[in-house]
Amino acid sequence: MNETNIDKPIIRLINLTRRYKVGPNVVEAVAGIDLEIAAGEFVALMGASGSGKSTLLNLLGGLDTPSSGEVWVGEVNLATAKRNILDQHRQHTVGFVFQSFNLLSTRTALENVEMPMLLVGERAAARRTRAHELLAQIGLAQRSDHLPNALSGGEQQRVAIARALANNPLILLADEPTGNLDSKNGAEVMRILRSLNQERGLTLIVVTHDPAVAAYADRVVRLLDGKIVEISMNAAPTIEAVPPITPVMSQLQEASV
Ligand SMILES: Nc1ncnc2c1ncn2[C@@H]1O[C@H](COP(=O)(O)OP(=O)(O)OP(=O)(O)O)[C@@H](O)[C@H]1O
Ligand SMILES: [Mg+2]
Repeated sequence: MNETNIDKPIIRLINLTRRYKVGPNVVEAVAGIDLEIAAGEFVALMGASGSGKSTLLNLLGGLDTPSSGEVWVGEVNLATAKRNILDQHRQHTVGFVFQSFNLLSTRTALENVEMPMLLVGERAAARRTRAHELLAQIGLAQRSDHLPNALSGGEQQRVAIARALANNPLILLADEPTGNLDSKNGAEVMRILRSLNQERGLTLIVVTHDPAVAAYADRVVRLLDGKIVEISMNAAPTIEAVPPITPVMSQLQEASV
């Protein structure tokens, strides 16, 4: 974790609430959450199915709008932000990783990684160069021309991580990133995420049902019925020795300065 940033919250949630109307009923998916997350922190979000984890992640990502309360990310309150500010947030401030990878099936690994850069108008040559670098950094240089269905699940999720990093976000939001992977590939994905956190100071919020995944985090936040019911610090998060992506991640940092 980046010691210089640790006291500065990058995320501040104030009485955050998201209600859904389902017929005559109202579901409070997120029911008055107050939480601060420091820049460079790695937080695991846990809780039973339906406890509001994905809803909370979507609110943080600017993919959903709160019913009430505030979602501060840096100096921006997403609850009241204008559309262009929300676009900026989704395209530059956060990166998303999903359980089911969500790669475009007719595009190669390289083209998938290029996509977020294409959407913000990055030039073709710069896109290609950076996508090649990102794939090399996660050990998939040899797979850049493969379509997703010619990649293993673990490889697809690594491509999805590279794609999430394309526009150099401050925060990575991952919704059960290891949920579709076996334990070996799941551990590989977590090792990469933890390295990104340590090497780049990337703030990480990872939803998981798996205690072995939560063990990588600095702090575990547990939800029940849309509320925080427990916050615990991990005194000794899982950190594997000598992460192989360390040298390339420092190059990435230099390239993005
Ligand atoms: N678009 C929606 N319309 C109505 N209700 C919704 C909607 N999205 C979520 N909910 C409800 O809000 C609650 C929280 O859902 P959410 O998807 O955030 O849970 P979760 O903790 O991510 O669960 P899981 O572990 O199964 O992914 C659930 O009761 C769900 O049914
Ligand atoms: Mg969910």
